[in-house]
Amino acid sequence: MELKQIEQIAIEIAREAGGLLRQGYGQRKEINSKSSAIDLVTQYDTAAEALIAGRLQAAFPTYRLLGEEGGEQNHTGSSRIWYVDPLDGTNNFAHGFPVFCVSLALYDGNQPLVGVIYDPLRDECFHGAAGLGAYLTNASGQRTRLQVGQAATLTESLLATGFPYDRHTSAQDNITQLAAFLKRAQGLRRAGSAALDLAYVAAGRLDGYWEYKLSPWDVAAGVLLVQEASGRVTDVTGHPLVIAADKLSLIAANDTIHPQMWAILQQLDNQPAPIHPSATGSL
Ligand code: IPD
Ligand code: CA
Ligand code: CA
Repeated sequence: MELKQIEQIAIEIAREAGGLLRQGYGQRKEINSKSSAIDLVTQYDTAAEALIAGRLQAAFPTYRLLGEEGGEQNHTGSSRIWYVDPLDGTNNFAHGFPVFCVSLALYDGNQPLVGVIYDPLRDECFHGAAGLGAYLTNASGQRTRLQVGQAATLTESLLATGFPYDRHTSAQDNITQLAAFLKRAQGLRRAGSAALDLAYVAAGRLDGYWEYKLSPWDVAAGVLLVQEASGRVTDVTGHPLVIAADKLSLIAANDTIHPQMWAILQQLDNQPAPIHPSATGSL
């Protein structure tokens, strides 16, 4: 099947799951915690993932699937794998803060093929396929091609980040980094959805984004969108992301802002690395 067709099926599934979240948003939620007291799951996370997994497995029975709530659900041995975050922004959803989305991505090993991020409250669908560009289809059905922002300095940049769920107990809490960027950027946001943060970098609504200790389903679709929008995504050391890694720490921005963010993070991590990997040809 062509990537464009796979993208279209993923869009339909993300929209359907988004409809379920939209309905659940105004309802009473059963809220439970997972890895820590602040890492939440509701009945809508699990219902949306069950819907998505069922649809994806029916349409692509030979592909593997890794979902946030259900783990790996289709052990086919294929190199193609769906990464599914049925509700990115669960904390927001549980509190009635209107920023959350569905995020689906298909990879072949470490290679992103298709990415879809659907925001059900704004009816905004960010979608793309490798080599075919990334787009926003808005609530009126208008489709525009995504392009990262043109900011040249941090002083003119709107940045975003997030904080890991182990931040109450871990010293690696992103607070020093937050302070450093707050002092340098035009603005800094913590909206609570890593997938939407990345979609917004791709759309040029944000100029840069960094975060530590994420999971593959948080970022898989957003990585494709940023890359297809001519942006750069690497891990925080400046090297290519390994999507299947346990804890993903990344920077996403345009080619000018990315090295500036990288330099600050390197300095704070006490890892003097005077040469950005792009200068050595390894990017
Ligand atoms: C979380 C959100 C948040 C990020 C967390 C993620 P979830 O995903 O993307 O912005 O800071 O690290 O785990 O739990 O709402 O799916
Ligand atoms: Ca998530
Ligand atoms: Ca989630």
